[in-house]
Amino acid sequence: MHVRKLKDKYHNVSLIYDQLMSGINYRFWAKYVYQLIRSYHKNKNSSVLELAAGNGNLTKFLYKKFKDYVVSDKSISMLKNFKVSQLHTICFDMLFPSVSKEFDVILCSFDSVNYILSKKKLKIFFNNISSLMKEDGIFLFDVGLVRNSLHHQKYASKSGSINDVKFSRVSIFLPKSKIHKNIFEFYFNDGTKRIEIHRQKIFELNTLFDIIDQSNLYVVDCFNAFTFKDCKENNFRAQFVVKRKN
Ligand SMILES: C[S@@+](CC[C@H](N)C(=O)[O-])C[C@H]1O[C@@H](n2cnc3c(N)ncnc32)[C@H](O)[C@@H]1O
Repeated sequence: MHVRKLKDKYHNVSLIYDQLMSGINYRFWAKYVYQLIRSYHKNKNSSVLELAAGNGNLTKFLYKKFKDYVVSDKSISMLKNFKVSQLHTICFDMLFPSVSKEFDVILCSFDSVNYILSKKKLKIFFNNISSLMKEDGIFLFDVGLVRNSLHHQKYASKSGSINDVKFSRVSIFLPKSKIHKNIFEFYFNDGTKRIEIHRQKIFELNTLFDIIDQSNLYVVDCFNAFTFKDCKENNFRAQFVVKRKN
């Protein structure tokens, strides 16, 4: 059997994740996601798979509304800090999900899809996700757009300390390759320094629509995130609602 060794790219960031996200209103975000679920999937007993769930910041506001809620992330360090101890967490790369069940609802929030850096991999991802969806299932995911990256580059420099760790973050957007880098430096009490670089790809909406079109999924709606208005290229973040073609 071939066992894939997962790279934990959030190993150090997991130590500071909550401080980093202290400005994010996850309760509001969860409310929006829940509204979307209820608008597109009427079944009250929906089973949910949350991909790239991190340490459960969104999960903790959502899981109680469902009977069956499974969470996963590629980073074991994020899952070790998971906020909801009652839930079953599985560590896997969402490109190659290691669950065999089909779900009514699949979620992937907060720019996690941006971590998939090539069109080829995105297509593999969408096809693999489609095989985890029930026939009438929905897949909800968001992506950060160029405007979000430009804003971040300007305003997201941050530094702080928590427990034994001091950290800083700078954000760089490379307009040609459309790669957004978050570069973290960590300084530990014992004098060690570590660097963690998170790369995201900022695809244009048209490209995303094309890739989805080539997969087993189709776009039901694509909203300007946190609204129910159609998304435009110059919005900050797009919220997709997709379904299985067959
Ligand atoms: C910005 S965090 C979002 C976490 C969580 N959804 C939230 O809202 O707080 C991005 C997450 O994506 C995860 N991730 C990145 N690439 C992944 C992959 N290929 N498969 C699964 N998880 C991935 C990271 O480990 C990290 O926890």
